[in-house]
Amino acid sequence: MMDYYYYYFFLTLLSLSTVTFFLFRTTTGRKNRLPPGNVGLPLIGETLQLISAYKTENPEPFIDSRVARYGSLFTTHVFGERTVFCTDPETNRFILQNEGRLFESSYPGSIFNLVGKHSLLFMRGPLHRRMHSLTMSFANSTIIKDHLLVDIDRLVRLNLHSWTGRILLLEEAKKITFELTLKQLLSIDPCEWTENLRKMYMRVIEGFFSIPIPIFSVTYRRALQARRRVAEALSLVVKERRKEREMGMKKNDMLAALFDSDGGGGGGVGFSDDEIVDFLVSLLVAGYDTTSTTMTLAVKFLTDTPVALAHLKEEHDEIRTKKVASVTLEWEDYKSMPFTQCVINETLRVSNIIGGVFRRAMTDVDIKGYTIPRGSKVFTSLRAVHLDQDNFKDARVFNPWRWQKTSDSTNFMPFGGGPRRCPGYELARVALSVFLHHLVTRFSWEPAEEDKLVFFPTTRTQKRYPIILQHRSNVAETM
Ligand code: HEM
Repeated sequence: MMDYYYYYFFLTLLSLSTVTFFLFRTTTGRKNRLPPGNVGLPLIGETLQLISAYKTENPEPFIDSRVARYGSLFTTHVFGERTVFCTDPETNRFILQNEGRLFESSYPGSIFNLVGKHSLLFMRGPLHRRMHSLTMSFANSTIIKDHLLVDIDRLVRLNLHSWTGRILLLEEAKKITFELTLKQLLSIDPCEWTENLRKMYMRVIEGFFSIPIPIFSVTYRRALQARRRVAEALSLVVKERRKEREMGMKKNDMLAALFDSDGGGGGGVGFSDDEIVDFLVSLLVAGYDTTSTTMTLAVKFLTDTPVALAHLKEEHDEIRTKKVASVTLEWEDYKSMPFTQCVINETLRVSNIIGGVFRRAMTDVDIKGYTIPRGSKVFTSLRAVHLDQDNFKDARVFNPWRWQKTSDSTNFMPFGGGPRRCPGYELARVALSVFLHHLVTRFSWEPAEEDKLVFFPTTRTQKRYPIILQHRSNVAETM
């Protein structure tokens, strides 16, 4: 089925890329001094090579071979466009930090229609800065400590309480992260409404990886319909909450912060319902797959590295033993999980849920003796930096202990950098830590079948990581 979509996808690309391909052929090299590279086959460039590499467990040769041949900055032609790949940490930092000055974020058209034009991902300039910091202020340590941790802990425990026998870990983790995000955004606890919303929302996500032309792609058509239904459902909540607010009822969540905000146009007008809905959808999108996949991959890496799992269990059993009277995890407990933080860092480093981010040059930019012409697409590969032996010893081995020696690594950017650095980074860490705590203190498990990592269209395990759980008998029940 996917191959069928690719067929249409490439047909569309053929026409779109003809112009850019020949333009590139005539302007590359001496005059503009673009980074060297190969634009591959006419029209489709090197897209097929990239896809086939990233559909395997070891996509590294795609970048490795080009870096060996052309250096850390190279030009290729993927997904219909000439693209400069950047694989060294300094250049990546330079690009990300110059967001809005020399480069701007660039997402595919499919995502624009599905997330909505008023989402944080598409905001620019002062409005982006303001809304980015508003989002941060709703996911910073103080808010998590005083307000969100209690819900994260409760919802994780609630979910794990019903786990038994064989489960698909990725599916369960997605359910948890969706519920956490809805609670944080709208103060809504899990119920039939949230589960229905999640099902519709999953259809929206499927559309991200389809051809963004409704006439060609059933998946994309369905995703657009689902997007409308998600928007309708969220609009009703927003309207209801506006009424409650007029009656003096106030909640402490992201929606309340959006109501209080000045809105895009300034002058105290406030955001419209449509703007708020787009904003909420973008937060649901950004935190859902990323956190749940990281949860799943942490468990996979730990299962494959029993010494690390034993070390982690020891850390959490100790916390649990000290908490005789209370089941609830507190901020001090979270702060006494040093090895857990090493596991999370290492999972993020090795798996690279967001392998890199796309930017577009806003002007001609000189970097490392080359010129990236205005309008060019640039891909800052976070993955290439994280898996480079020059930056991390034995870079391709999962070794959480490395983080006991180095707490700060300027080469480590799983949450991006610059003005678009992930505003949910602390929240994700806390959710991951709480999840690992309850998982390892409550259960032991084994893989139900062989499963492997793949990286296209997203990073995940092929079979959603089926595991068989057993309750641990020696540790106090935490529900
Ligand atoms: C392990 C989990 C996560 C990872 C690896 C991750 C990674 C990233 C990365 C690399 C970016 C930068 C994108 C760019 O520069 O274009 C980003 C942006 C973003 N993330 Fe996360 N993220 C995670 C969890 C979350 C969570 C839980 C939230 C919820 C609040 C969130 C909200 C966002 C938003 C709203 C943006 C867009 C920021 C902007 O464009 O200004 N993320 N994330």
